[in-house]
Amino acid sequence: MTRILKIGGSILTDKNQELAARQGEITRVAREIASHPEDVVLVHGAGSFGHIPAKKYRLPQEFSRQGLRVTHSGVARLCEMVVEALSQAGVDCLPVHPLSCLLLLDGRIDRFFIEPIKEMLEGGIMPVLHGDVAMDVAGKAAIVSGDQLVAYLAKVLQAEVVAVGSNVDGVLFSGRPLPRITREELKQMGSAIGGSAGVDVTGGMRGKLLELLDLADLGIDSLIFNAGKEGNIARALKGEWVGTRIGRTN
Ligand code: IPE
Repeated sequence: MTRILKIGGSILTDKNQELAARQGEITRVAREIASHPEDVVLVHGAGSFGHIPAKKYRLPQEFSRQGLRVTHSGVARLCEMVVEALSQAGVDCLPVHPLSCLLLLDGRIDRFFIEPIKEMLEGGIMPVLHGDVAMDVAGKAAIVSGDQLVAYLAKVLQAEVVAVGSNVDGVLFSGRPLPRITREELKQMGSAIGGSAGVDVTGGMRGKLLELLDLADLGIDSLIFNAGKEGNIARALKGEWVGTRIGRTN
């Protein structure tokens, strides 16, 4: 039973300050994941390690070789911290950098060599991926968000739990988290559901929702929940619907 968990960069870093890790939160998140580590693929966001350099070098609109390198090294550094914290918490894990194993076509994943991920799962190792820069066969280079990775992996691995942790209680409408949302309902709510509080080049809450609604269309429900609240990660991994469930229109 594969479970895909994303932890947003807003939890692990201070999104407004470059290269600002929240070490206490990284440790806490790692401990919670360690309570249910079986068959989990972890994807983490880039936070200030990715969004700030990406914005500075105008990625993905401009092709900046230096921007690609600086942004990738930032997110790879954060990934190393996450892997280290998970190892300290007793989880066998390995980093998987999307830049090196996938290709985009117009910003969307076109080819993805996921066999190493499957082998890791087979061998009891947790693959740790992250939002990254990636080469794009159409436009030289772009950004692949953790949310796009979650939706893609959930589809090809036929995941049974798909949980996206952010720093809010789910999809908020008039300040309150919705228990469930479908594509139809999102259309009716229009712009009431918005972006992100910090620097974000990948679309904030709306970007997240659109990825997960595509997944729901394929019959895979997912969850947007608050990973900043202690205990929620463990609950989400157990398959509890904590937060907002993203489902298919009936
Ligand atoms: C963004 O990844 C990747 C880069 C900016 C390089 P995400 O979109 O998954 O990151 P968070 O969760 O918003 O921080």
